[in-house]
Amino acid sequence: MKIGTRPVIIAGNWKMNKTPMEAMQLINDIKDGLNSPKAKVVVCVPAIDIAAAAAACEDSCIMLGAQNCHWEKSGAFTGEISAQMLCAYDVRYCVIGHSERRQYFGESDKSVNLRAIACIESGIVPIICVGENLEQRQAGAEFDTVKSQLEKALENIAPQQMENVVIAYEPVWAIGTGKTATDRQAQEMCAFIRSLVKELKGDESARKTAVLYGGSMNRSNAAALLSMEDIDGGLIGGASLKAEDFLKIIDSAK
Ligand code: PGA
Repeated sequence: MKIGTRPVIIAGNWKMNKTPMEAMQLINDIKDGLNSPKAKVVVCVPAIDIAAAAAACEDSCIMLGAQNCHWEKSGAFTGEISAQMLCAYDVRYCVIGHSERRQYFGESDKSVNLRAIACIESGIVPIICVGENLEQRQAGAEFDTVKSQLEKALENIAPQQMENVVIAYEPVWAIGTGKTATDRQAQEMCAFIRSLVKELKGDESARKTAVLYGGSMNRSNAAALLSMEDIDGGLIGGASLKAEDFLKIIDSAK
């Protein structure tokens, strides 16, 4: 049984997909199909889509998210976008430290921490991603891995700021592979993450911090995953790119 003190968040992570025109179309399709959702609905779009997506989200309950941001407000950081810049478009969430950024773009625990703090300071909720790879799970190191990532990601974040932090458990072996973690595996790690938040930031933070699961969540497995006590929502890649699938997942959040 869920305690019901935390909102359920269904966030789409579009990754490097959709042009601005396509983004507007997809958001309009989601809007058309939304039926008093029980969850907070977020779409984390590519940077180039943000302006178009912001316009499409207007007058709807769909909230806009980004996929990354830099920790400085401005400066000589070619190719980067600051958290402050995101605010110009009412971006409410930002994915931080996704495993693809860690794996392909040299994102470190330290930069994840700095980016998360920049988000919080700009009033954007960071969705901080943690999760072990297959090798680490096979070696039984999944809890140590997540513990270390989380401890570093949450450095210098005050307990009272945790209400504006979302953590996403995304086992790397489950991302884009069609190989979802079982409900038990996902629940076990999300509960572990909550216990870590309690240890690091106190009881109230642990009760208030939303912990999402991500990794091949889809219309068929969402309801079971979302019914688990410590899973407060989903970060959804592939299945968020089709309105029908994404809407089904939103509907599964009861
Ligand atoms: P997936 O991606 O749902 O396609 O596995 C999830 C994610 O990477 O956030």
